[in-house]
Amino acid sequence: MSIIDKVVSAVTPIESDDARREARAKAKRAAQPGDWLSMVVDHHEQIEAAFAAVKSASTAATRTAAQKRLGILLTGHSNAEESVIYPALTKVNEKGHAGMAYTEQAAAKTQMALLEALTPMTQEYLDKLEHIRGAVAHHVYEEEGTWFPELQEKAPAEAQAKLTQRYEEEFSRYVGRDANPEVIRLRASGA
Ligand SMILES: [Fe+2]
Repeated sequence: MSIIDKVVSAVTPIESDDARREARAKAKRAAQPGDWLSMVVDHHEQIEAAFAAVKSASTAATRTAAQKRLGILLTGHSNAEESVIYPALTKVNEKGHAGMAYTEQAAAKTQMALLEALTPMTQEYLDKLEHIRGAVAHHVYEEEGTWFPELQEKAPAEAQAKLTQRYEEEFSRYVGRDANPEVIRLRASGA
């Protein structure tokens, strides 16, 4: 871990697993079936599973493949939030939350690029991966526990419908519509 990573780790408040579970439950209670918030939470869960797959990979080839999948999900999800959801935070007078959200995701993108340069089956790689996972988990905690339920509450219904359509469009543009887990789930349920 670099000195900068250590400093960032030291100043990032670490919430408990219970607090994270509570934040997720809150976001799920606020979400409506198929809306932007339900997609966002679903993608957060996919990202967590993708981090776990990178960590548990037993060869360099499977780890690199899992890292690519994680990178696609993270980039597709963060780009969609940055293009659609964070501007909506600004619109409901939450500029501070939006600014923090952009900053944290830019840091995650930087760290993912640095991870790509490391040798997959080394402790250094695992340390960097864990650092990014922890930072993303904290970011997700802020989104699910505070920022997004507030946005859900403050934005009018018409704006919410637009957010759902635009978030899905931006995520699918990068990840591919058929790879959007929420689209697959809705299709399977006949919605
Ligand atoms: Fe997110």
